[in-house]
Amino acid sequence: MYKGAPFYQPMDIGRKYVNLPPKTIVLPKIGAIELNDFPLLLAPMEDVSDPPFRALCKLQGADVVYTEFISSEGLIRDAARSVKKLDIYEKERPVGIQIFGAKLDSMLRTVEIVEKSKPDIIDINFGCPVKKVVSKGAGAGILKDIDLMVKLTDAMVKHTDLPITVKTRLGWDHDSIRIVEVAERLQDVGCQAISIHGRTRAQMYKGSADWRPIAAVKNNPRMHIPVFGNGDVNTPERALEMRDDYGLDGAMIGRASIGNPWFFKQVKHFLKTGTHLPAIGLADRVAMARRHLEMAIDWKENELVGVMENRRHYTNYFKGIPHFKPYRMRMLTCNTAAEVYQVFDEVLETFSEESTS
Ligand SMILES: Cc1cc2nc3c(=O)[nH]c(=O)nc-3n(C[C@H](O)[C@H](O)[C@H](O)COP(=O)(O)O)c2cc1C
Repeated sequence: MYKGAPFYQPMDIGRKYVNLPPKTIVLPKIGAIELNDFPLLLAPMEDVSDPPFRALCKLQGADVVYTEFISSEGLIRDAARSVKKLDIYEKERPVGIQIFGAKLDSMLRTVEIVEKSKPDIIDINFGCPVKKVVSKGAGAGILKDIDLMVKLTDAMVKHTDLPITVKTRLGWDHDSIRIVEVAERLQDVGCQAISIHGRTRAQMYKGSADWRPIAAVKNNPRMHIPVFGNGDVNTPERALEMRDDYGLDGAMIGRASIGNPWFFKQVKHFLKTGTHLPAIGLADRVAMARRHLEMAIDWKENELVGVMENRRHYTNYFKGIPHFKPYRMRMLTCNTAAEVYQVFDEVLETFSEESTS
């Protein structure tokens, strides 16, 4: 019978938050995929982590990238939008396709569909807090039924030769944080890595992520799969803290990369040298926004769709520029790439001096 690891106790955690001597830290692997020391993972993000964005993050140093979550029920029905999400560029590997669902049969059929896209990893979303997902028992909803969570993972591991990884939250709410036990049980059924967002479902995105329970997972002497930390890694210093104070195997980065794929390079540089790279100048931001849009059009094979669906991306490259609103509004109403590039040119002309310092 499963005996279980001790539940999370904040007072159990030693030397800052990790008890492991540095020598025991070995290079992480997901299945046969060998990773660098303290890899940086691009988080799955709906409507953000599409193939162009993933490829750009990869070029800037992301070690592993994940697709946005894909509904198992949608894929089984062959819903065109879900199927399109399975696209992968060779240049972004290793890439994980993330799926969600709560029905065993649907999840197994989904594994078979997903395998045809030849991802390197299949990730199960056990962390989405959104009501319409949770109410069906999927995403973070499964945190209310840990036995089912383990059963689904077990069945999926047995159903494929690809490594299965899990992304989850600390627990359903503050009073039900059992992540140490949960992680160990997932590992025992063959999960190859776990990424943990340091919030509960009840927190949604409020408050700040608590990485101490994630360190407690890492501190469990029975854990041997990589434990990746997620939530609020928004500066290179925070990544360093996650590595050195919390002893985690890598950082999964979400929001800090939006409109800022350079974040991966900045973090890596800081982890290696302790110094910061110069700020990204406006010309580089414009060039990245343009490259991103070109890739989106290429991927969608339709200029109008590429321009419209990429709006959320190209406006994000200009976050923080004062008095930018009129340009932003114009970008949001363009229907052709040429119109967008025209606005980019004007932005460069108007703001270059102020923003390149
Ligand atoms: C726009 C957006 C979409 C997201 N979509 C997903 C998703 O599809 N699957 C998932 O597991 N998490 C999703 N998340 C959660 C992120 O992967 C991540 O856990 C969360 O943002 C915390 O990390 P961060 O502080 O680095 O952003 C999403 C987050 C955002 C902001």
